[in-house]
This record gives sequence, C-alpha cells and structure tokens, in this order.
Amino acid sequence: MSKTRPEDVLRLIASRHSTRAFRDRPVPRPLLAAVLAAAANAPSSRNTQPWAVAVLRGEARDALAARLQDAFDRGVPPEPQFLNNPSSLSEPFAGRARATGAGLFDHLGIARDDGAARRAHLRRNLDFYGAPVALIFHLPGDAVPGSFLALGCFLQNVMLGLLAHGVGSCPQYSVAGYPALIKEHLGIDAERIVVCAMAVGYPDGDAPINRYVPERAPLDDYADWWW
Ligand SMILES: Cc1cc2nc3c(=O)[nH]c(=O)nc-3n(C[C@H](O)[C@H](O)[C@H](O)COP(=O)(O)O)c2cc1C
Repeated sequence: MSKTRPEDVLRLIASRHSTRAFRDRPVPRPLLAAVLAAAANAPSSRNTQPWAVAVLRGEARDALAARLQDAFDRGVPPEPQFLNNPSSLSEPFAGRARATGAGLFDHLGIARDDGAARRAHLRRNLDFYGAPVALIFHLPGDAVPGSFLALGCFLQNVMLGLLAHGVGSCPQYSVAGYPALIKEHLGIDAERIVVCAMAVGYPDGDAPINRYVPERAPLDDYADWWW
C-alpha cells in the first residue's frame, strides 16, 4: 500500500463541501459498506458507538422521499427532535448563516422575494436532492449531547470516506423534521431520535449548485493560541 501523504489528507478534508445535485449512477453497496465500516472507527465516549444508520436506495429510497414530499406539500409542520441551532442565533453566527443562505440563492439566481423558488429548493431536500442513496442517522432515545458529538464524528468520517471514492454527500437536518413518519416507515423504534439524513451519490459536476462553496472564517477567528 502506498504511503498516505499528509497533504493529500488535508486536501481531501478541505475539499469536502455539500453536494446537492447527483449523477444517475448507482453507488455500489460494497463501497458504502466499506465506508460505513471504516467510519465506525470514529471516537465515542467510552466506546459506546451510539450511531445507527438506515441505508436506502431504489424503491425504498423513492417511497420514503414520496412520503416526505407529500407531508411537505400538505403543510405538515416540521417537528425535529432536537435543535440544530439556538432558536435565536447571536453574532457572528447569525451573519454567517445569513451570508451562506443568501449566497446560495444568489449563486442559483433565486431572488430574495421568490418564495416559490425558495420553497422548491426546500422541497428538494425531501427528495434527497435526487441522490440515488439516502442515509438516515438515528440515536437512542436517551441520547445526550455527547452522543450527538460521537455521531458527528461518525458523520464526518462517512462524508470523507465517500469523498475519497469520488462520492458526494449532503447532511440534511431538514429531513429530520419528519421523525414520526420516518420511524414508522422504516420500522425504527418510536423512542429513537432521528438526527439527520444524508444525500449520497456521484456529484453532477455541471450543476451550478455544486459549485457553491460558502466561505470559512479565518483561523484567528476561532483558534486562540497559547503557544
Ligand atoms: C447537521 C447538519 C445539517 C444540515 N442540514 C442541511 C439541510 O437540511 N439541507 C442542506 O441543503 N444542507 C444542510 N447542511 C449542510 C450545510 O448547509 C453546509 O454544510 C454548510 O452550509 C457549509 O457548506 P459546505 O458543506 O458546502 O461546506 C447541514 C449540515 C449539517 C452539519
């Protein structure tokens, strides 16, 4: 096996950005299995490995997407089981969130007041952005913040492992707005917590949405050196 070069690993990490348009090309099950197995080497408090994931493709993926979109179309209010952000974001986080949202819509040529186009974009989430594979990540019902940390490590491993194979992904909190429907549909115990979905597939390199890369704050904004 050739030696992994540190700069290649850092380049891979830095090149991970959300993929929201996919090619009509299947992702092989052995590839997904290898990535998920490697991802489970993520750290977790006392090695509890609290993560669980449902892996959907084909009819299973389509049937869940159809139910999610139907709920969206009927105006069923999203009821996620945990908050993804404080209900009122403070600065600088609010500004970053605003800039990223506005930046994406500007990039796509969607006007600020074009409610229909914005709603259509939101709805695409519930079709997993057309990805051939959808992952649903869930935790035990008694999960605590540390459990979510462990799942976050697992999630990032999955995304980087996929990327190493040229497969793109987008984590999706929006889908977790319909936990009862998802758990009933997939036979997941009612008390479990649906944390997020992930759209997975080979990126459509021509799609403008995949070329949007939100800015990152500079190192000095978040690293305080005692050196
Ligand atoms: C927990 C989590 C949930 C997210 N939920 C969504 C989502 O529902 N829909 C979406 O399009 N992107 C979602 N994202 C992607 C973020 O919008 C994205 O990571 C962020 O804007 C930075 O962009 P990048 O991933 O392209 O670097 C989510 C990311 C995380 C970590």
